[in-house]
Amino acid sequence: MAEIRLDKFLANRSPYSRSEVKSLLRKGAVLVDSVVESDGSRKIDPDAQCVTCQGRRIQGSSHLYLMLNKPQGYICATEDQIHKTVLDLLPESLRIRGLFPAGRLDIDSTGFVLLTDDGQFAHDMLAPGKHVPKYYLVCLRDPIEDAEIAALAGGIVLSDQTHCLPAQARTLPDNYALICLHEGKYHQVKRMFASLGNHVEALHRVAIGGLILPEDLRSGRYLELLHKDLERMLKAPDFDSIYEQILKNFSSYSINASP
Ligand code: URA
Repeated sequence: MAEIRLDKFLANRSPYSRSEVKSLLRKGAVLVDSVVESDGSRKIDPDAQCVTCQGRRIQGSSHLYLMLNKPQGYICATEDQIHKTVLDLLPESLRIRGLFPAGRLDIDSTGFVLLTDDGQFAHDMLAPGKHVPKYYLVCLRDPIEDAEIAALAGGIVLSDQTHCLPAQARTLPDNYALICLHEGKYHQVKRMFASLGNHVEALHRVAIGGLILPEDLRSGRYLELLHKDLERMLKAPDFDSIYEQILKNFSSYSINASP
């Protein structure tokens, strides 16, 4: 890994905020190769040096984690003979890094896709036993009704007798709803609403765990995630708090957008 400022490294790779890092440096809580370092502007090489903060080793991960706002028309795969893949949205320098999409969205679905080269993290996020929640903004043919919300909360049985875990849903303006799933079966959201006699017209993933796709991240664009974002992604937040944040920015989400 290239050299990086100590304060930047700590803010990116530790659970501490920038201001907490400043005060920890001032207090002498940061050691570089066992020597107290209080100068945040000092350049370090995380691969060659050992940084600890309050006795805790801060790892310099060489893995990369990107949050992509997937447009329609792209598939979540690393290569395909027919369709464009999500990797086609990245510059060549990133395409050669061995990134892959951790989880899938359908070709016509949009929104948050995690791209990473960290197989262990992807496994932790996707493992069925972990139940990391995924939040989808859905545009429905018919406005969602209380009976549908109750049926989803009770656990839907799909037409092929597949049992789904309970899912939370709440209405949004127009014909939109927010739905939270704790598993990822094939075409699950579409099939759940189909079994209720409704139809999904458009689907946009807006959050994974507690990490929300910024409403101003344009379709086809990506940003690099930091340690704190990854921790947030593995958390199970309160549905109502995610709902309130989505509702506040609802008009800014560009569902169905092209890059
Ligand atoms: N459920 C679906 O039906 N499609 C997606 O792309 C994601 C979840």
